[in-house]
Amino acid sequence: MKVLGIESSCDETGIAVYDSTSGQIWQRLYSQIEKHREYGGVVPELASRDHIVKAAPMLGEIIAEIGSIDAIDAFAYTRGPGLIGALMVGANLARGLAWALDKPVLGVHHMEGHLLAPMLADEKPAVPFVALLVSGGHTLLVDVRAIGDYRILGETLDDAVGEAFDKTAKLLGLPYPGGPELAQLADSVTQSRFEFPRPMTNRPGLEFSFSGLKTAALNIVKQYEPLDDDLRAEVAFAFQRAVVDTLRIKCRRALAETGYQSLVIAGGVGANRHLRQVLGETLREQCARLYFPALEYCTDNGAMIAFAGALRLLQGQTDETVSDVLPRWSLESLPVV
Ligand code: KG4
Ligand code: ZN
Repeated sequence: MKVLGIESSCDETGIAVYDSTSGQIWQRLYSQIEKHREYGGVVPELASRDHIVKAAPMLGEIIAEIGSIDAIDAFAYTRGPGLIGALMVGANLARGLAWALDKPVLGVHHMEGHLLAPMLADEKPAVPFVALLVSGGHTLLVDVRAIGDYRILGETLDDAVGEAFDKTAKLLGLPYPGGPELAQLADSVTQSRFEFPRPMTNRPGLEFSFSGLKTAALNIVKQYEPLDDDLRAEVAFAFQRAVVDTLRIKCRRALAETGYQSLVIAGGVGANRHLRQVLGETLREQCARLYFPALEYCTDNGAMIAFAGALRLLQGQTDETVSDVLPRWSLESLPVV
């Protein structure tokens, strides 16, 4: 089955075709980062408009590559969570195409797209496993009992990890979005005179809180202003250490609690080099297996939506009669595949 997937929940327009028989992927990805940079964050109305402008030509390019739109068997799109206007662009495009071509269509949960992205690699995680989903909008530890059978073990009580990276980067004067830039700065040094807390690790539980780390960075910035390059790198280093260490502690705990042997890490922050390295080492010690998506499938993309959609569409799940999008949508409410 060839599924065309459309991702438009935030500031990336991702369109991809996934062939469930061959595993082949055709894709285009456009990032609006430049559009939003001068505002220091995503402007929802600009995001929707840019999706409208970019989606159709990108779709045209992919269709030209695969030969004909008639080769598509079904359509998938991100139904939520995300920015309502941005979601509506992808949803309307997918539903319109499906209706015009008389093909099935299905709305996909954005975080399920992230969660299943490691399955696009050759070495696939097998259920059950623990998933750590770390993106700009979410920080979730999930008990994945089966595909579609999700139980949230813990989530953030305030900022998501990516959001904390981005806000701290802004404090340090780094360009938007900031997460990758902060990570690069942190990796440029090997130590720091600062030590940040590991929030909520000294009590039981799997919840997170990252807003305090941002405040810790703010206090240093106020104390040392103006910061020179060395000092900024040391703040970035201490911040990244604290975040990764906190994630490591909670992942170990989640594995112990569930008794599972596999951990999947996905979402934009899953691209973080230090996170990959530290968790790789820790889980090797614990004899647990660690799975990441390929870097290109960590941040938002159309392939993960086409893939998650395909798994459900192959089981006959469709939602032709649905006409809404879901800016808020619980992973736990999904039907089992
Ligand atoms: O999953 P994603 O592309 O979009 C959402 O669904 O939110 O995640 C984007 C987030 C941003 O906050 C970005 O700064 C962060 O992921 N990010 C990183 C890195 N690459 C992307 N954070 C830390 N280190 C990175 N290498
Ligand atoms: Zn995402």
